[in-house]
Amino acid sequence: MERTVYVNGDYVPEREAKISVFDRGFLFADGVYEVTSVLNGKLVDFAGHIRRLRRSLDELQMRMPCSEEELLQIHRRLVELNAVTEGMVYMQITRGAADRDFAYPESATPTLVLFTQARPVIANPVAARGARVVTVEDLRWGRRDIKTVQLLYPSMAKMIAKGQGVDDAWLVQDGKITEGTSNNAYIVTQDGTIVTRELSHDILPGITRAAVLNCVRELQMKVEERAFSVEEALAAREAFTTSATGFVCPVVEIDGTVLGDGKPGPVAQRLRQIYIEESLKSAI
Ligand code: PDD
Repeated sequence: MERTVYVNGDYVPEREAKISVFDRGFLFADGVYEVTSVLNGKLVDFAGHIRRLRRSLDELQMRMPCSEEELLQIHRRLVELNAVTEGMVYMQITRGAADRDFAYPESATPTLVLFTQARPVIANPVAARGARVVTVEDLRWGRRDIKTVQLLYPSMAKMIAKGQGVDDAWLVQDGKITEGTSNNAYIVTQDGTIVTRELSHDILPGITRAAVLNCVRELQMKVEERAFSVEEALAAREAFTTSATGFVCPVVEIDGTVLGDGKPGPVAQRLRQIYIEESLKSAI
């Protein structure tokens, strides 16, 4: 079945969707995006994604193309038109089309594009067996807190991981893990403390991260938001990642070192289960 996608006010079959060759998203990666997961045909943490979208737009002096309510309606309509029960909605806003110039154009109409991708999110085989990761130097730019479409380096890092026969890469800056190619990274130390890097320009403030850290605090589990080294990660009891598409995903191997017994750890499994239950309840 051909998908229906949304482009600047129209719902069109994907093959008919068109964007200008002058679009600054295409020429300069001058655009931001959000990925919202869909469970039972409903949107998970939509409000969180919109909050972060606003922040990304503000940081780049871009304007919202329409109201939040309209964005919600577009998300819902696409999910319905494409009969998505599980998967995600991708939304991208670029500064729009203008003659090529490094300076932002004075008046350009933002481009708004959304599409859906259906796929199992709960019954994810990688989450069931646990991901294997390798560490790769973090060579991304210095404003990773802004969710831009400039994703070539994460893509390269993912290919380095695939080339080594594993699932993903964890990125390393000055000997410390920043995050995964498209997820936030966590370890559980031998004394049971959950450690994840603190928010700064170095990492994306994950929406799943915020929700999971809330759960962790409610459950009164020990947690530290600080940078952790590769050595600390290799000596961890367990590890995991969080993202809108992976939820909580256990990590069982880092740079060839098997963590614990090589199976998804109890903390990651418990948090995954709680996060799914909470998301099923709160999705809109
Ligand atoms: N990626 N860090 C990076 C670099 C990411 O790209 C993502 C999300 C996250 C997790 O953020 P959240 O919990 O809000 O999804 C952290 C999305 C899923 C993507 O690019 O497909």
